[in-house]
Amino acid sequence: MENETIKIGLIGVGRAGYGMHLPEVLATDGKFDFAAVCDIDPARRDVFEKRLGHPVKFYSDVSALLQDPDVEMVSVATPSNFHTPHAIAALNAGKYVFIEKPIATSYAEALNLAKVAGQYPGKLFLRHNRRFSVEISKFREIIDSGILGEIFEIRFRIMNYDRRADWQAITECGGGLLNNWGPHLIEHALYFLDAPVKRSFSRLCKVAAAGNAEDHFNIILEGTNSRLIDIEVSGGCALSEPMYSFYGSRGACSCNDRRTIHLKYLDPGQPLAPLTAVADTPPLDASFGQSEKLRWIEKEVIAERPAGNGCAIWQCLYDSIRFGKAYPITIEQGLEVVKIIDTAKRGTQFEQTFKR
Ligand SMILES: NC(=O)c1ccc[n+]([C@@H]2O[C@H](COP(=O)([O-])OP(=O)(O)OC[C@H]3O[C@@H](n4cnc5c(N)ncnc54)[C@H](O)[C@@H]3O)[C@@H](O)[C@H]2O)c1
Repeated sequence: MENETIKIGLIGVGRAGYGMHLPEVLATDGKFDFAAVCDIDPARRDVFEKRLGHPVKFYSDVSALLQDPDVEMVSVATPSNFHTPHAIAALNAGKYVFIEKPIATSYAEALNLAKVAGQYPGKLFLRHNRRFSVEISKFREIIDSGILGEIFEIRFRIMNYDRRADWQAITECGGGLLNNWGPHLIEHALYFLDAPVKRSFSRLCKVAAAGNAEDHFNIILEGTNSRLIDIEVSGGCALSEPMYSFYGSRGACSCNDRRTIHLKYLDPGQPLAPLTAVADTPPLDASFGQSEKLRWIEKEVIAERPAGNGCAIWQCLYDSIRFGKAYPITIEQGLEVVKIIDTAKRGTQFEQTFKR
């Protein structure tokens, strides 16, 4: 069993199932393979098989896939409102479960999932895949190295102008940018906050998309360490800002392509002499009475993707299922993410649709 391929039953052959799970699995060197897929659209079988390179069993009904003894693990990649029910059904069928984000569309639903998962220890795995991205480890390395000093503010931005009109624009389908991008960025926020959340602010609105779900949100979290995380995700902003920015007491870094990290920080070899503010009128040369020359270091660091990147999460999944190693994202962390999304939704009555 130890080195045996883990046979997947994929539910949902869409942008995530076909566009991400499939190529990522193909890059796992046989650690994973697909035994079966399930989709309500039968036309998806052919395209899936063509890319996979061998035949798979195809089901149009989830319960039939769950009864298939060749399926050891179920990947849940259906629209978001189906994640919890499909994951619970798969757990009850005795399968390992790899659940797409969001793990649930409400905190109550997430608590129910956690309760069922508690009956099947070590069977449920959360696909918070962005935690496994190289740029995230690089940011962690940079922060922990201390070159930026104490981090006081972090900003995450995903900004587009997108007149979206699919199920992701419809609340009843689990749509909305909070369910879509929220899990990734709130997971990152909790990872980088390095302290419990002290207070939070949120705003949801709709700018450009169709449907009734938010296509713009802001969430600000402040930790008990006074670090602030400012998240803005929008389908209604025609101009963008850097995707990731970290500000510390000795420098900052930002990244907009998940690869090139721009760093500007004070030379660690330059001690900063204590300064005393004086109330005198400053000179006219705009120096504010300061003769100190700050020695800045500016450079770019590349978060290089190793070959087969995208596999890191699958490797961890394999090591957990086959060798019992701890999986980096716990169910408790997943619950915390949904709780923050739920709080943001409940704390905001959004009726505003801006005129176009
Ligand atoms: N982790 C990531 O980076 C990432 C990226 C994209 C999407 N996702 C998540 O994946 C999920 C799916 O998103 P998507 O963009 O692939 O959606 P999609 O609409 O492209 O695909 C969903 C697929 O599920 C099928 N489906 C719908 N109801 C079904 C049912 N009851 N039984 C079986 N199949 C059913 C649809 O026919 C479709 O093929 C979302 O919840 C999204 O949050 C995650």
